[in-house]
This record gives sequence, structure tokens and C-alpha cells, in this order.
Amino acid sequence: MANTVNMVLDNELRIMPKLPALILLVTFATTHGVVWDCDKQTSCATCTGMSHLLDAGSPTSAGQSENPQHLEGEEDEQLGTQLIGCNWCPDDNSCHAYGSLFNKCSSDTYLKFPDVCPTDYPSSTTPDFLPDWMGSLNAVLGNLTVLDLSLPGTHDSLTYDLSTTVSDGGIDDYPELSKILNLFSGSVDIIPGQIEDFIRQQARTQGLTITQQLDNGVRFIDFRQMKEGEGGWYSLHCLESNNLSFTYLKEIKEWLQLHPQEVVVAWITKHGNGGATGDDAYPGVKAEDKQAYWSQVVDLFSDLIIDTTVSSPNSTSLNDLIARSHRFIPYLGDYEEFASDDLKKYALDGSLVDNQLGSSVETEVNSYQSEKDAFSSAAETKKNDKLSNRLYLRSMATSSPGCQIEAAAYMKFDPFANSDDQIKSCTSGCFDIPSLVGWCPTSLMDVAQMGAYYKQLTLEMAYNNFDQGWEFPNAIYLDSLDVDGTIRVGTTLPWGVEKDDDVAEHKTSRYPYADTLIGFNVKLACKLGQGDEEKCTEFTNMIDERRKVYEIEVWDDGKYGRSKDWPQ
Ligand SMILES: *[C@@H]1O[C@H](CO)[C@@H](O)[C@H](O)[C@H]1NC(C)=O
Ligand SMILES: *[C@@H]1O[C@H](CO)[C@@H](O)[C@H](O)[C@H]1NC(C)=O
Ligand SMILES: *[C@@H]1O[C@H](CO)[C@@H](O)[C@H](O)[C@H]1NC(C)=O
Repeated sequence: MANTVNMVLDNELRIMPKLPALILLVTFATTHGVVWDCDKQTSCATCTGMSHLLDAGSPTSAGQSENPQHLEGEEDEQLGTQLIGCNWCPDDNSCHAYGSLFNKCSSDTYLKFPDVCPTDYPSSTTPDFLPDWMGSLNAVLGNLTVLDLSLPGTHDSLTYDLSTTVSDGGIDDYPELSKILNLFSGSVDIIPGQIEDFIRQQARTQGLTITQQLDNGVRFIDFRQMKEGEGGWYSLHCLESNNLSFTYLKEIKEWLQLHPQEVVVAWITKHGNGGATGDDAYPGVKAEDKQAYWSQVVDLFSDLIIDTTVSSPNSTSLNDLIARSHRFIPYLGDYEEFASDDLKKYALDGSLVDNQLGSSVETEVNSYQSEKDAFSSAAETKKNDKLSNRLYLRSMATSSPGCQIEAAAYMKFDPFANSDDQIKSCTSGCFDIPSLVGWCPTSLMDVAQMGAYYKQLTLEMAYNNFDQGWEFPNAIYLDSLDVDGTIRVGTTLPWGVEKDDDVAEHKTSRYPYADTLIGFNVKLACKLGQGDEEKCTEFTNMIDERRKVYEIEVWDDGKYGRSKDWPQ
């Protein structure tokens, strides 16, 4: 198993030795008059969002709470390092002071951090069309191949279930995260799990589970995995997942069995690089371990997986894929080594994914332009890719700028950091969005939702410019998927954390991502002469009605980076 976060240390970089940090935190709590009213918190997000600070043992340091929670625990006598703060108990849906006598939860069911609060997924809005959209639209889509379609996808699809253990796959793209571990691990890890949780919040891109994503229309999965030391294969994004990656594959399989006309493409890599091979793909993992794992996966999907000696993404129709039960289509990174020769036919080579990255919301002016360029020329790109059986994939994913991660870490962990300075260096220093003032995003999901606000503009433009020849790629992958196949463009996080002073009616605003891509598929199929006129009209109208439920909304928010007239 991999190192835990606080083992990843470089002593030279530590700024605060442990004991002074303790004193700083206690001083901060006392001078700022922090009050813990745990029992007054009514939601998991506000409860766990209360600062986790320290009690040096004296009653005054717990703030001037009118109703001080009695604290108990083994640590009471040791160094006075009793933690105070609030935790949510899912058993009785209430908020308790850490270690409170009235605590009805066993310590493992406690929810300690906002990002593990349950994601709001109201069953009343569970979509009835999206779980079976391919089947429902068969009369127009049935004779098309996968490489004629545009599939709604998610980025880092499994990050809803990250643990707090650093993966052997490493913190590849995030030197800032290693730096933060180094800076703060020795000093604030007295608050158990807090740094690990901070890292997790910089790595999580999705709130919905894989089954929920599929139910919401997603048919392209960015499936990331790594073998963890002598342990098994886990999913990862900096941190490893809670469950074995096989668990999520089983979920996908069970979902496919329940939805007999749906086809799912999975892009299986360590880090979104389908062309990487050997140690570049999975450092230190032996070929025999990869092949043993792949053989298990083929067994799992035995009666559902594509056989590429018979079917091909660029020439086999959906109808034939369904008839042959070739509905699970994996693109395998490190293909040569991952699949033994006899099992190669059950996957496409990951290097056949033409993955175009574009840029992220930190340079939104460039992103906006590059998305317009990509969509206005997508028809040409797809045509060329299809000739060589390549799948044109476009990233609309977010990456957190390193300077934002750093600023957010200082604001959280260094009680004497000047937050005005940190916010300034985070906003104008890390993003080009003029209306981002007074707020430094503190998680990747915050950045992603702000990004999604702008991604909706180019998605909508591509859809509306269909008659001018704009198209979508074979698949798009992005963050912050939400209910009804939407992406969340508002400010409230999926696990319920709300912002202050934002625009009240746009807290959970959403854009109909899946329906927009599906509606495009219908238009394109009809243009290609598929389906009769009656079906084309019926389906087009039905999807336009669905898109209206979440009609695109733009607004000005002078703090949280949403602008009406920018970046046009
Ligand atoms: C994964 O593991 C966690 C706990 O470690 C559990 O709560 C969750 O339901 C598991 N299963 C899936 C499929 O995510
Ligand atoms: C599909 O790709 C293969 C190359 O793998 C190519 O030979 C073939 O012509 C392509 N078929 C179509 C219909 O584009
Ligand atoms: C698909 O092809 C079959 C056989 O050629 C034909 O009967 C059917 O009408 C076609 N479906 C569509 C949607 O065009």
C-alpha cells in the first residue's frame, strides 16, 4: 500500500515545527473568539465546515460558547491536544462536538469533512429518458457506428470515491500538492486527516457515482487505475480510491445488464495517456500483473465485451453491437503490455484515442477560443480520425492552477497568512477572469463549476451552429456532472457547501450537457438520412423540450467569477 500523506515529507521545506503551530492555532482561536455551536448546525456541510481547532485544555480557549460542549476522550490528559470542532452523524442526522458525550455515532460513521457529506441526488428528478437514450432513439441512431456519435463523458470519472491515501501513481501533475504536503504536514497534521482531506478536495471532480453517471446519460468513462504496491488495482487521482477498481467495473457491468440497448466506452489508463507504454504508463508494475488483471476484466465482461476481430468502432452499427452483445468497448492504455496476445482482441489500443486537451479555465480566453475552433472544425477532424479508426476525444476538463492551490492552502493552514494578499494572488494571479475578485476557490470542484459556467457557452454555441457545420467530437469529458445529465454552473458544491454573497437564484444553476450532445446526435443522424421524417421531428422536439428545463443562464456575480458579457 502507498505512503500515507504525512509520510511524504521533505524536512527542508517545513515552515512550522509542531509545537509552535499548536500555540499559534490556540492563540488564533482565542483572539478570534471562535465559537462552536455544533448543536445549532442543521446540515452536514455547515456542521463539518466549522473550523477544526484545538483546545489547550482551558475552558476559555474553547471560545465564548454559551453552551460549551463537554469534551471527553483519551487525549484529554495528553498535552491538552483535544480537538474541538463539529462532526456530522448520519445515524441521527445531527451535528456533534468532536468527542461530545452526547455523540451517538461510532467514530467510523462520523463525517468529519464537508466533501464527504452526501451528494444531493434527489430521486424525484431521476431522469427517465437518459438511462436508455440510445435504445429510445434507436429508430434514428441504430445504423450509426460509435465513431459517428458524440458521447457525453466525464473526466476522472471515479474521483467521487477517493480515500485519503496517496496513490503509488503519485501526484504527477501537481508539484504544488507535494509542496503543500511538505510545508504543512508536520505542523497541522495534529488535526487528523485535515491535510489529506485538503488534497482530496484538489483531486475530486465528480459528485455522482458511476451508476448515477450512466443513468444521467454518460457513455464515455475516463477510467483511471493503478496497482498499489503489493495490493490490488485501485482507481486514482493523486489519492487512491476507497474501493478496488474492480468494484467500479462490476457496477458498470451490472448497469449494462439492466440497460440492454446501451453501449459504453471506457478509456482505461493511469493518467489519461492512452499512448504511454510500460513504465511510462504504470511505473513499476510488472507485465504479468497487468495481464492477470486484464484477464479478470475480460472474464467479468465476458458476455458484453467487444471482440475486435468481429466488430469495429468505425464500421459496426449500434444495432450490430447490440445484436452481438459487444456493448462494452474498452480503449486500453499500455495496450501491448496490458493485454496478453490471446486477450488483445477484447480491447482497442488506447493510442487510438485522439485526445485533444485544449486549455482550462485559468486561461479562459484561450479556452473559449480553442473550444470554438475545435467545434467548428470537429466534422473534419472526425472524418479523418474515422478513416484510421481513431476516436476524437475532447477535454473540457479543469485543472487547478498551482498558485490557487497554494493560496488556498495558506488561507486554510497558516493562521497568520494575510488572506487579502492570498486572495489577490489567487484571483488576478492565477485566473484571467475579470469578475473573479474577493474569492479564492478552495477546491477543484469550485474551479470546475466556475469553468463549467464558461464551457456551457461554447457547448450551446456548437449546438446552435449545427446548420453552419459545427459538430461535437466523438466524446467530450468534463467535470461537475449533476442530476438530469446537467453540469453544475452555480456556486454551491455537490455536497452542499454554499457560498456567501453569491447570487441567490444561481446557487445550483445547471446546463443540460447530456441532452445537448444527444440532441446533436439526433440532428446529425437525420442529416445523414437516418430515420424517417416523423421520428426525426418527434425526437428533436422531445429533446428541445428537455433542454428547455435547464435553459442556459448567464449572470453577473461580482465575486465568484461569473460574467454575462465575457469573454466574447
Ligand atoms: C466503497 O467504499 C466505501 C467505504 O470505504 C463505501 O462507503 C462505498 O459504498 C464503497 N462502494 C462503492 C461502490 O463506491
Ligand atoms: C476503419 O479503420 C480502418 C483502419 O483500422 C480502415 O482501414 C477502414 O477503412 C476504416 N473504415 C471506415 C468505414 O472508415
Ligand atoms: C437501418 O438499416 C436497416 C437495414 O438496412 C433498415 O431496415 C433500417 O430502416 C435502417 N434504420 C434506419 C434508422 O435508418
